[in-house]
Amino acid sequence: MEKGSGTACFKINTKMGEITNVTEYQAIAKQKLPKMTYDYYASGAEDEWTLQENREAFSRILFRPRILIDVSKIDMATTVLGFKISMPIMIAPSAFQKMAHPDGEYATARAASAAGTIMTLSSWATSSVEEVASTGPGIRFFQLYVYKDRKVVEQLVRRAEKAGFKAIALTVDTPRLGRREADIKNRFVLPPYLTLKNFEGLELGKMDQASDSGLASYVAGQIDRTLSWKDVKWLQTITTLPILVKGVITAEDSRLAVENGAAGIIVSNHGARQLDYVPATISALEEVVKAARGQLPVFLDGGVRRGTDVFKALALGAAGVFIGRPVVFSLAAAGEAGVRNVLQMLRDEFELTMALSGCTSLADITRNHVITEADKLGVMPSRL
Ligand code: FNR
Repeated sequence: MEKGSGTACFKINTKMGEITNVTEYQAIAKQKLPKMTYDYYASGAEDEWTLQENREAFSRILFRPRILIDVSKIDMATTVLGFKISMPIMIAPSAFQKMAHPDGEYATARAASAAGTIMTLSSWATSSVEEVASTGPGIRFFQLYVYKDRKVVEQLVRRAEKAGFKAIALTVDTPRLGRREADIKNRFVLPPYLTLKNFEGLELGKMDQASDSGLASYVAGQIDRTLSWKDVKWLQTITTLPILVKGVITAEDSRLAVENGAAGIIVSNHGARQLDYVPATISALEEVVKAARGQLPVFLDGGVRRGTDVFKALALGAAGVFIGRPVVFSLAAAGEAGVRNVLQMLRDEFELTMALSGCTSLADITRNHVITEADKLGVMPSRL
């Protein structure tokens, strides 16, 4: 049977014609959403150099495909922290999804579950951990921002655990909010009909209007800037859930994550929304993987828009990838069907990339299947 025919049932047509790739949802979202919302989703920090680089760095990595290998059967299934999923493509946490579509996080949870993959729910979701759990079975992780009030954190982690979430993704790149100039210009604030649902009842669910970004002020008021490695240890005393450290981009921090008991690392620059002029995540991945020495799985997010990107990340040592903006843009365009379509398109593209590279399982994907800039300069590694 021909592989990669799975998109047929998900074809979504719009005024722009048939959607054939993930990136096309961005233009539709831009048309549909209020400017303040679209800008919040789309923008990066300051000059947005890293935002562009997250994409461009992928385009500088080339393939070394192998031929004449029987690719009639392709297996994309994998295991993440012991949980079996259908493909190494998962959903990153992104805040305030009900601004994109009334179904918000419910739609994302259902789409992830239907695709047999993992959704990460943001601390700042507009649906609570209990509400998302009520959508039905599915493997879900909870993303944690550490508030100054540690009782709030303890309570929230326990609620996530009780609601069946399987891991904590601790975001470590946000002691303060990056300078997102679009949000400053728009005086970004969560619309009054929405709340940070996990914090409702704790007097922390509302975001006040500010003279600049309302979110930046909220973060400055509530988020703990003292967060350090000792808190990664502390977190392990309040939960038995595995902890993924989200936001590592150096070898030094990769080693510290191992030493401090992390269950995994997510190489992330927060979708280029925090410190501008950090490298693209795909450029930082290999050093983090090497420093982790196989002690824990390393994942990546940032700029993943094609099945070829997924393959490149796996070839450079990632155990899987997460996607951020494609979820909110497709949610804005078509709700749950949009998110399902994004996951299906990436799945089909990834499967095709595997077939055309001569790989029938994830274990077949090796460092030798790609050439990076560093390889071309002869800096890294002696391949053969
Ligand atoms: C994010 N991201 C994010 N990360 C996090 O730890 N907690 C959060 O609440 C959010 N919220 C959020 C909102 C929006 C609109 C975006 C675009 C991103 C970062 C996110 O988890 C992920 O790191 C990036 O989005 C990955 O990059 P791409 O796929 O968007 O390029």
